[in-house]
Amino acid sequence: MSQPSSSIDLPLAIVTLAAGKGSRMKSDLPKVLHPLAGKPMLQHVLDSASQLAGARQYVVIGHGAEQVQAAMTQDVCWVMQSQQQGTGHAVAQAMPEVPDDAVVLVLYGDVPLISTSTLSALLAETHASAEQTGGLALLTIELADATGYGRIVRDDSGNIQAIVEHKDATQEQRTIREVNTGILAVAASHLKRWLPLLSDSNVQGEYYLTDIVALAVAEGTAVRAIHPQYGHEVQGVNDRLQLAGLERVFQRQQADELMRLGVALADPARLDIRGSLTVGQDVSIDVGCIFEGDVVLGDGVSIGPYCVIRNSQLAASTQVEAYCHLDDAAVAQTCTIGPYARLRPGAELADGAKVGNFCEVKKSRIGAGSKVNHLSYIGNADVGVGVNIGAGTITCNYDGVNKATTRIGDNAFIGSNSALVAPVEIGANTTIGAGSVIVREVTDQQLAIARGKQRNIDGWQRPQKKS
Ligand code: UD1
Ligand code: CA
Repeated sequence: MSQPSSSIDLPLAIVTLAAGKGSRMKSDLPKVLHPLAGKPMLQHVLDSASQLAGARQYVVIGHGAEQVQAAMTQDVCWVMQSQQQGTGHAVAQAMPEVPDDAVVLVLYGDVPLISTSTLSALLAETHASAEQTGGLALLTIELADATGYGRIVRDDSGNIQAIVEHKDATQEQRTIREVNTGILAVAASHLKRWLPLLSDSNVQGEYYLTDIVALAVAEGTAVRAIHPQYGHEVQGVNDRLQLAGLERVFQRQQADELMRLGVALADPARLDIRGSLTVGQDVSIDVGCIFEGDVVLGDGVSIGPYCVIRNSQLAASTQVEAYCHLDDAAVAQTCTIGPYARLRPGAELADGAKVGNFCEVKKSRIGAGSKVNHLSYIGNADVGVGVNIGAGTITCNYDGVNKATTRIGDNAFIGSNSALVAPVEIGANTTIGAGSVIVREVTDQQLAIARGKQRNIDGWQRPQKKS
């Protein structure tokens, strides 16, 4: 379906209001920076808006302005509003920067789940009229309890006449259930004419953006309203309860999408994705897992309960058992990890490697089929193929100042409770006796034992308590 040509030709100016304090969050962090699924609310808005073709973004900031600017990655035009004199005043601050021929879309930094498709529909609505410049399009919604919201006042034929704020509304107007979400789209040329006409003579002493509706009606400009696809898209966040509510909505949407892709989720309500999770076929995820940053799970990967996996790739058929923590790790096929394993940045596991309980691997490569099964620390190490690392083995990679490397050749067998003092090389097919402290090279095929000799004393009398 093709859109009216005017909406393609006109530049789009997206003005996002983010100057408010957000006192009810009871936080030093500016409200729009509070994270939803690990990403600031304002970033969600900018990301959704940036998918609209031809968009230039303007963000109106005030409280915590520097902090907000520093936290955003997008290239936006920042507009200062040093005193918050109302939504009309806020939009007016951006207008000098907005080209006269643009369509303006007004969004809010604390309404994070607005979807690109609803915004597209709203923009199309501004051009639904025959007028050259287009009409005013509002996003409205019907609420069972409309307390606090601006009400959409319509005449007997259903034409929109005005928006009346709750505090300014009559008892009769307060019975109206259709409310203003605040999100609207209109030609910049109209706004530039209407905004200077706003007055602050109302209960709150603010310049209300909503008063442009009556101005549009007065001069015969078409005013239309559409509803969002979902109610949560227009839900604002004023306190931490509302933020937590939207977090669950967002997480559930992500869980549903994963299940549609064929992922087996033990419980879609107990999953948190704070970033992007890319999955192959027949992936299964048990309860309580958290995925952060960019995570890729290959075909048939299974993740046990209560794992935290950040910026990692796991290839096909790898199994992660309960309570593992993976950060910046690359894991090949058919590996087994955990339970209770920790892979730190730079951990690389080749096909079929095993890292078991209470093991930590950092900046190390574990060769194909090698096992680090119990209570070990492997850091700055290069471990060959088919190596067995006994329980409690430690690579002593740090002398207090520098990190040094441990190299272990193919098919080496490291006895339990060994300390490998780096830098050190251990050849292929070597054997290290349990409890050894290895400080110098062991070459291929050698056995190295470096521990005190055992002494047995016959008939040893233990000390006795004096009576
Ligand atoms: C506004 C609407 C109301 C609507 C409601 C939906 C107006 C006058 N009223 O009311 O019709 O039902 O949203 O939630 O627009 N902001 C600034 N600078 C300002 C004032 C506000 O950046 O000077 C930002 C705030 O940070 C906030 C947003 O704009 O994120 C909305 O402002 P707020 O004062 O909360 O408007 P509401 O009273 O909720
Ligand atoms: Ca509000």
